[in-house]
Amino acid sequence: MNYPFWDVPHIGSGWVIGIIAIFHIMISHFAVGGGLYLPLAERKALREGRADWLEKVRGHSKFFLILTGVFGTVSGVGIWFSIGLANPEGTSTLIHNFVFGWAIEWVLFMVELSTAVVYYYTWGRISNELHLKVGYVYAVASFLTLVIINGILGFMMMPGEPWLAVAGTGQEASRFWQAFFNPTYWPSLLLRSAVCVSLAGIWALVTCSRIDGEAEPRLKTEMVRWSAKWLLPSFLAMPFILVWYLWQVPEAQRALLQLGMSTIGTGAFTQVTRMALLMVISSVTVVGVVYFLAWRLPLSFGRAHALAVLFLGLVVTAAGEYSREMLRKPYVIGRHMYSNGVRKSDVERLNRDGYLPNSPWLPANATVLQRGEGMFRGQCMACHTVDAYRPMKRLMAGRDREAITRLLAILHDSKPDSPYKSFMPPLVGTAEEITALGDYLDSLTAPK
Ligand code: HEC
Repeated sequence: MNYPFWDVPHIGSGWVIGIIAIFHIMISHFAVGGGLYLPLAERKALREGRADWLEKVRGHSKFFLILTGVFGTVSGVGIWFSIGLANPEGTSTLIHNFVFGWAIEWVLFMVELSTAVVYYYTWGRISNELHLKVGYVYAVASFLTLVIINGILGFMMMPGEPWLAVAGTGQEASRFWQAFFNPTYWPSLLLRSAVCVSLAGIWALVTCSRIDGEAEPRLKTEMVRWSAKWLLPSFLAMPFILVWYLWQVPEAQRALLQLGMSTIGTGAFTQVTRMALLMVISSVTVVGVVYFLAWRLPLSFGRAHALAVLFLGLVVTAAGEYSREMLRKPYVIGRHMYSNGVRKSDVERLNRDGYLPNSPWLPANATVLQRGEGMFRGQCMACHTVDAYRPMKRLMAGRDREAITRLLAILHDSKPDSPYKSFMPPLVGTAEEITALGDYLDSLTAPK
């Protein structure tokens, strides 16, 4: 562990990233989908000469600007802070490998945010054609931000053979394009684009729900229905894209999902399956709610309905991202770096030379328990906490010191038939360090 450890009590650092990320994903995908919604809605209104539509689209663009420009950007920076603290090694790999990718991304963000501002503030001040063009520039720039970040996110799931072949040699950047267009690139770009389009519809329904149905029945009916249509294509295509995506995911990781399927209710490890099911069920509910409440009864579609749809969308997003995280376990960068920052290629060296010499944060005269705690923080706390989320206190409760030794031996050897291999990294370190970890874990539940 070359960096100080960020200890977030009870929930663990992973959930800090998760909570920020879920909001960020809801907003950033809306920033892309909504970027297409606005000019298309404006174009329709202009063609049909509908001043009442234009007024609402303009209102929506204000909401859009505030949500994406303020909450989208702040939560994006929040992700950087949290991943940098929670997983410095992984973050560093992403930065070093994709220097130019990030540079392009920042330029696109600049274009995206400035056109969003120009679009909102020039309603009625410049010609309609020019205003519409600003909208299209925004749409293209924001879609390109997705094109870039999608390559980097996919890389974390599966860097692909060409990059893995040079990983750790210092030549990684020479495989930039192979890493960028990794095996999950296209299905996940399609999947995310579909999510963007649905979110454009979902957020637009929030705006539409505020139109007074008694005062403007025609406007409300038309806008609610037009917005609801945005959910349709993606929900029809989503199952197929999901299958394609899973097809690209490494066999070993996919096995986790299948294992969960076959042991529902009994298996020790079915979260990924449960999450995948939750995702499917809430997606279907979204479609149902939108069809019955928005499409069929547009006039009575109120704010509570819109917020319910939004909430379900949040559940789908959260479940989807959680499944993706679980599919990637035990890696943070597929088959290269484990979630706790240990590189796969370093395992042998760390077993021989020890793990703790890399932790200058540990006092020189640390006691055995302090050394054990150092091991625990560095190697286990990426996924466990002491007392709440995947709590060690509970997991250790039924184990005496001998059972702990056996458990740690299984984790350390990480043999192909180890039941933990598909979701926990191998425990690294010398025999002395592993004993210290065992003593520390034992102390958590003492007295028995
Ligand atoms: C990459 C994430 C990750 C890391 C790192 C990790 N674990 Fe786990 N661990 C998990 C997951 C996921 C489970 C399953 C949790 C569940 O079923 O609720 C688990 C389960 C466990 C269990 C319960 C298994 C059982 O059969 O009782 C123990 C004990 C455990 N981990 C110990 C450790 C120790 C000790 C370390 C550090 C050396 C560690 N874990 C590191 C993800 C991780």
